[in-house]
Amino acid sequence: MPDSLTVIDNRTGERFELPIAYGIYPNYGAYIRGADLKKIKGSPEDFGLLSYDPAFMNTASCKSAVGFIDGDRGILRYRGYPIEQLAEKSDYLETAYLVLKGELPAPSELAAWKHEVTHHTFVHESIKKFMEGFHYDAHPMGVLVSTVAALSTFYPEARDILEPATRWKQVVRLVAKLPTIAAFAYRHSVGMPYVYPDNDLGFAGNFLSMMFKTTQLRYTPNETLERVLNVLFILHADHEQNCSTSAMRAVGSSHADPYVSVAAAAAALYGPLHGGANEQVLRMLVEIGSVDRIPEYIKRVKAGELKLMGFGHRVYKNYDPRARILREMAPQVFDVTGKNPLLDIAVELERIALEDDYFVSRKLYPNVDFYSGIIYQAMGFPVDIFPVLFAIPRVSGWLAQWQEMLEDPEQKIARPRQIYIGHDERDYVPMSDRG
Ligand code: ACO
Repeated sequence: MPDSLTVIDNRTGERFELPIAYGIYPNYGAYIRGADLKKIKGSPEDFGLLSYDPAFMNTASCKSAVGFIDGDRGILRYRGYPIEQLAEKSDYLETAYLVLKGELPAPSELAAWKHEVTHHTFVHESIKKFMEGFHYDAHPMGVLVSTVAALSTFYPEARDILEPATRWKQVVRLVAKLPTIAAFAYRHSVGMPYVYPDNDLGFAGNFLSMMFKTTQLRYTPNETLERVLNVLFILHADHEQNCSTSAMRAVGSSHADPYVSVAAAAAALYGPLHGGANEQVLRMLVEIGSVDRIPEYIKRVKAGELKLMGFGHRVYKNYDPRARILREMAPQVFDVTGKNPLLDIAVELERIALEDDYFVSRKLYPNVDFYSGIIYQAMGFPVDIFPVLFAIPRVSGWLAQWQEMLEDPEQKIARPRQIYIGHDERDYVPMSDRG
């Protein structure tokens, strides 16, 4: 049988053969080209058939080799490697290298990458001054979005996006400086002096130092918490064509520089339906307040008054594998920090929801945000900074996808079509004739 679709246009009786092509899996990722529909016309003067797909429910906007999700089976892989193996065996910088470069680094490559990132963690002193202009209660995500955009003015050479070496330099800078900006945003919000990066610490340990160091001469991160933060960063490094990554690709497709493109992606991440969800999960658990009030809350969710934050996903119609890893890792954190009392509410909420037909029939399972917030809070991170903690590692995914987009000969400036539903042409009405 040929790999094609035979379409008969009943308006004209005309028959069309649309080729079917595949990604690497024949049963996952078979596609026709949207542009092939254009030749299907009701009459010779027709524009041709469009496919209408609000919110890209069933439209692939690119080919990508970065991440793979099988939402029905709850599978997530970066560059082919299962997320479970990376979470167990890798650390964030090694995973970021994998995501960005496509292969696990050789020992010398890893050492060079770690050295590069470690030596780009400082920000220009003017960036510090820029950040001081924010009000003390500015949301750290607003600060991050604006400050990353401001970096664009410090590195004008970044506009040369087609030159691979220049491009890589900005990749290193962004991966390295995001934790510094995030920590400075936090310290600013609580009126504490900024802590400069410590080059002797690892990526996650240095971030903990910049966040929490007070009077110690030397901050020594707790080993378990440093490891857990590494895992959290690994789990958030990439998630294929989600809202923020699509924003990164769309803005980057106009050949804007990577700083403003990352700022756009971070802005998309800020929303409560995306990276802002873990913050909302915490607020929801606090609002529920105790296990006995869960049934009442679920009732309101089922009545459509509220959404159960941290539940549901556009792609996963099964347990999010990242949520499973976090659920299993949570006790290690609580051994160090003491138990977060919200955990009992979360576990019971999950149990009740997973037995309830409303959630079962809609295939609504916990997503990564359901447990990440509880862990972050136990580690001492304030709720406002949760989406920022998401942005720090996701920048490697955004940049990997951005580079892939720039190198893909099929990609052009992103420009969807629309179905026009407004007025037909009409004549301008003078003000005196408008009743
Ligand atoms: N609570 C209650 N009902 C829900 C939830 C939820 N969290 N999520 C989806 N539903 C219901 C919808 O109301 C809809 O019901 P209906 O068929 O009766 O109308 C059905 O499930 C399908 O949901 P959609 O909204 O069509 O699913 P969509 O793919 O558009 O949304 C999303 C996915 C945005 C993640 C949604 O599930 C949601 O808002 N969840 C809560 C926010 C959240 O946790 N976001 C984090 C996502 S993960 C991430 O970004 C890292």
